[in-house]
Amino acid sequence: MVTLRETEQKITTMNKRIESALNDQIQKESSSSQYYLAMASWAENNGLNGTAKFMYTHSDEERFHMLKLIKFVNERGGVAIVPSVPQPPVEFDSLERVFELLLEHELLVTESINSVVDVCLQEKDYSTHNFMQWYVSEQLEEEALARGVLDKLRLIGGDKGGLYLFDRDMEASAAAANKAGTADKKA
Ligand SMILES: [Fe+2]
Ligand SMILES: [Fe+2]
Repeated sequence: MVTLRETEQKITTMNKRIESALNDQIQKESSSSQYYLAMASWAENNGLNGTAKFMYTHSDEERFHMLKLIKFVNERGGVAIVPSVPQPPVEFDSLERVFELLLEHELLVTESINSVVDVCLQEKDYSTHNFMQWYVSEQLEEEALARGVLDKLRLIGGDKGGLYLFDRDMEASAAAANKAGTADKKA
């Protein structure tokens, strides 16, 4: 027989599998933020100031993804774990390689979000499932963005003038993302 205490515990504490899946995701978002911060720093040191701004903004967005998860876990009776993250690279081979790595990383994050969604379905936790849908659509956008940027870079090839314009475009894109991001966080 289920005791009152057990029922109470079920209501006030988070399912352990869900908690662990969400804590894994917190770690991933945190390491994304550090990874893009390393890319921002590399771009800044290589005269690509527009790309650096884009990456700094992207790094902030990943931190916001992490914070949103931390708050969700704690509000739902779980315990969020603030993770340590591995040190990202200092050097990158080329700008094209940076965006290839970014896309590869986003694909891994998408996989990990899908597995959180999968655990939600297995555990019949529909409210966390609903919360995770925001991340599912965010991943679609980020993958499309990374693919678009990579296509542009491949088109430019080694052309210096093209690279100059590319970097200016990235600055505009960072400014637009900053504006949208501020509205997002207010919502
Ligand atoms: Fe993210
Ligand atoms: Fe991302």
